[in-house]
Amino acid sequence: MSFNFDEELDRSGTGSEKYDARKRLFGSDDITPLWVADMDFAAPACVSEAIQKRAMHPIYGYSMVPEHLFSNLQRWVAERYDWHPNQDEILLSPGVVPVLYAAVNALTKTGDGIIVMPPVYPPLFKAVSDNQRELILNPLLITHRDQSQSVDKGAEYLNAPAQTLHYEIDWDGLELCAKKAKMLLFCSPHNPVGRVWTRSELARLLDVAERHDLIIISDEIHADLTFVPHTVLATLPGAEKRVITAMAPSKTFNMPGLGLAWLVAPEIAQREAIKAQYAKLAIHVNNPLSMVATEAAYGHGHDWLAALLNYVKITHDEVVARLAEHPQAPQGIAAEGTYLLWLDCRHTGLDDQALQRHFVEKAKLGLSAGVFFGEAGRGFMRVNLAAPRRIVSEAIERLIESFTQPS
Ligand SMILES: Cc1ncc(COP(=O)(O)O)c(C=O)c1O
Repeated sequence: MSFNFDEELDRSGTGSEKYDARKRLFGSDDITPLWVADMDFAAPACVSEAIQKRAMHPIYGYSMVPEHLFSNLQRWVAERYDWHPNQDEILLSPGVVPVLYAAVNALTKTGDGIIVMPPVYPPLFKAVSDNQRELILNPLLITHRDQSQSVDKGAEYLNAPAQTLHYEIDWDGLELCAKKAKMLLFCSPHNPVGRVWTRSELARLLDVAERHDLIIISDEIHADLTFVPHTVLATLPGAEKRVITAMAPSKTFNMPGLGLAWLVAPEIAQREAIKAQYAKLAIHVNNPLSMVATEAAYGHGHDWLAALLNYVKITHDEVVARLAEHPQAPQGIAAEGTYLLWLDCRHTGLDDQALQRHFVEKAKLGLSAGVFFGEAGRGFMRVNLAAPRRIVSEAIERLIESFTQPS
């Protein structure tokens, strides 16, 4: 089966945040927007067809979960992750972020400490601070991939090509933080730095959680989008008592606007507490279009996803290699997963505002500022590679030119 990820679809005028908010966010419509984490590729045909078929019936009433949604979802995670949650452990949700908020409210009290490891997707911080819990930061460390030696404390990174840099958990910091915390909001794979945590890292994390009696909310929304095997934290022995997993078809199949995610909470008291939070706000999932789309995606989306990953990986490798040819330009920190690339701009000498201005005005690019992901993101930018390769390549050439040619 062949899929055409080179097809250039005009998204402007569709209410797309990425395209139609360009002027408001970046001050100009004349930029290539490679920021918010959705893709510029058509969703798989099975998804569009399921929506169109359901939409043909002109009544969009309160709807039940379609017959095969759970079984398709369970088969999907069984085949990909050797993970076998029971149906009664799975709860549908309007998004992964609502899972984070509900879990924080359900399983901790006002003032409790919750650990977050920046740079990270900002709602992880907000789920803590919006709910009057204490935010405990344990920033990731930047290390050399091989030596596993932290280089972030000095200027040594300036001599290290970014492809050899990657992020690790600060284990000593985590031990200290865990003493004061009740919960950890974990991002796996990690947006924006592109780490896919190894089984041994996950085992070590779980060990810390067990020793300090922490609950882990594992946001695995990017799990299906990895270039190396992803391990679901919940599959590790001992996880069932303290790990709640949030996943969704939204990133995987490019349907985040449809608003459907799911969580797995094996421990019954935790699950009931989260359900009670949803009940308090009368949150339920009964959108007929998102449900048939999810059922179809998990049932028939395998080949499309395999082709997508192949396409994104080629783009990723080309971009990282091309930037490495121009050391003055921002450098990509090679990702193990997600379609997002974390650009190290620290050597450019530009502060965060100047960086954003430079990208917009000189390179005509709208990217996510690293500082959006916390202080630990200062000096970085995040580029979304999930667009037709011609568009990404042209964007990267403009970026290189803007840093290498005097204006
Ligand atoms: C790590 C992570 N979690 C959650 C989300 C958003 O989840 P949702 O739209 O389902 O609330 C994103 C979107 O970028 C993300 O990167």
